[in-house]
Amino acid sequence: MGILKAGQAKLAIFASGKGSNAEKIIQYFVNHNNIHILLIVSNKSNAGVLDIAKRSGIETLLLEKKKFMESNDYVQYIKNQGITHIVLAGFLLKVPDSLIHTYNNKILNIHPALLPAYGGKGMYGEHVHQAVIQAGEKETGITIHLVDEEYDHGKTLFQAKVNVEPNDTPASLAEKVHRLEHEHYPAVIEKWVSRTS
Ligand code: GRF
Repeated sequence: MGILKAGQAKLAIFASGKGSNAEKIIQYFVNHNNIHILLIVSNKSNAGVLDIAKRSGIETLLLEKKKFMESNDYVQYIKNQGITHIVLAGFLLKVPDSLIHTYNNKILNIHPALLPAYGGKGMYGEHVHQAVIQAGEKETGITIHLVDEEYDHGKTLFQAKVNVEPNDTPASLAEKVHRLEHEHYPAVIEKWVSRTS
């Protein structure tokens, strides 16, 4: 783990699952001059991302759904930790307005499709790739966007595309999309944080 320096941007990553994106982000920013990953937040006690955080020596915060949606205490806690930006990486709960207003334009999400298509409530993971295949799309991709009060709705900062082949399955598409995510998300975060610090 890098050493925390004064004036650095301090990021929290929110994730509910395996955490492969979180892992790439953590690796990318180890020893970074201006950006430090300070906290991993998850709503699932068995999320792989918590093991990744522990292995990387990063503090974790487990927030079960009710607390996340209804309490304000953790918003204050995150602020007190000095967190400047929040990055969602496979985080499955809708971000409550209190957090969005505290971190106005400072929360970024990655979505595994080309928004505004295949977004909204219920459009996550395999559901997205299934819908893309069922609709006979020739391409899909990733969207990195700011988070606002509506699902998958904030301003898009970046998109990248990949072809959908006739023999693709939801699992093979998920793999292709993950590759794109790992390739681009850390660098897009870096640019965004530099612009907004
Ligand atoms: C990614 O495909 C992301 O776009 C979506 O959830 C998945 C998370 O994967 N929102 P991982 O936990 O980072 O491996």
